[in-house]
Amino acid sequence: MKAGFYQFNPLFGKKEQNLKQILSAVKDAAMDLLVLPEFFATGYQFISRDEVAELSEQIPDGDTTRCLSELSRQKSCYVVAGLPERDKDGFYNSAVLTGPEGFIGVYRKTHLFFEEKLYFEPGDTGFRVWETKVGRIGVMICFDWFFPESMRTLALLGADIVAHPSNLVLPYCPRAMPIRCLENRVYAVTANRTGKENRKIGRRLNYIGQSLIVSPEGKVLAKAPKNKEALSVIDIDPLTARNKSLNPLTDLFEDRRPGMYRIIKR
Ligand code: ACM
Repeated sequence: MKAGFYQFNPLFGKKEQNLKQILSAVKDAAMDLLVLPEFFATGYQFISRDEVAELSEQIPDGDTTRCLSELSRQKSCYVVAGLPERDKDGFYNSAVLTGPEGFIGVYRKTHLFFEEKLYFEPGDTGFRVWETKVGRIGVMICFDWFFPESMRTLALLGADIVAHPSNLVLPYCPRAMPIRCLENRVYAVTANRTGKENRKIGRRLNYIGQSLIVSPEGKVLAKAPKNKEALSVIDIDPLTARNKSLNPLTDLFEDRRPGMYRIIKR
């Protein structure tokens, strides 16, 4: 299957313009899975709840999810992309999965980062994996990567590919993803953004780009530059992620010993 990401510099509050840019960038690309960044259509740095209220949408009935479903239908591909979700209980940092058949599901970010905590509720969906025609797709959002439990949970739920919409500002993730993939024997597609946002005094955010696709052996198969728009699509074989065996006597999942992993309280 062909899996890819589109890395770019979303303009804050310019949903239509950002969506237009994506549609134009992917128009001629053939792919089975496209991953877009966290908050890809709105921008990231919210500075009030009013802004979140104005730019967030219901899922699946909002315009952005409809547009992604239409893109999936037209290109006959799956899309994973992040957006602020409005629900009766509050706002969530969410990602949707759409496919040729339309909207498939939503994941709400478990581990909120920094000032996201001022505006969003901690995600309550739990980690999710969807069986699709091209493999089992699991989703986590940006800072979730810092908690090894996120990818471990997705891998134990059967994910072949972890789709990872991101707006990374810390430098570590591109170094960490090869290890996350190696220890879980899964593919990961991290779609990050570029550029900077400086919407609040003393809170400038510089996004690190470097979107990447990593194999179950921890090999970096594709990597974008730090500060350039990039569409990258490569061939992967998701079924190889189902083999957790290192040799005839060692299976990374069967050899786990959860009973030994209890927390020792001092
Ligand atoms: C992040 O979770 N957006 C750093």
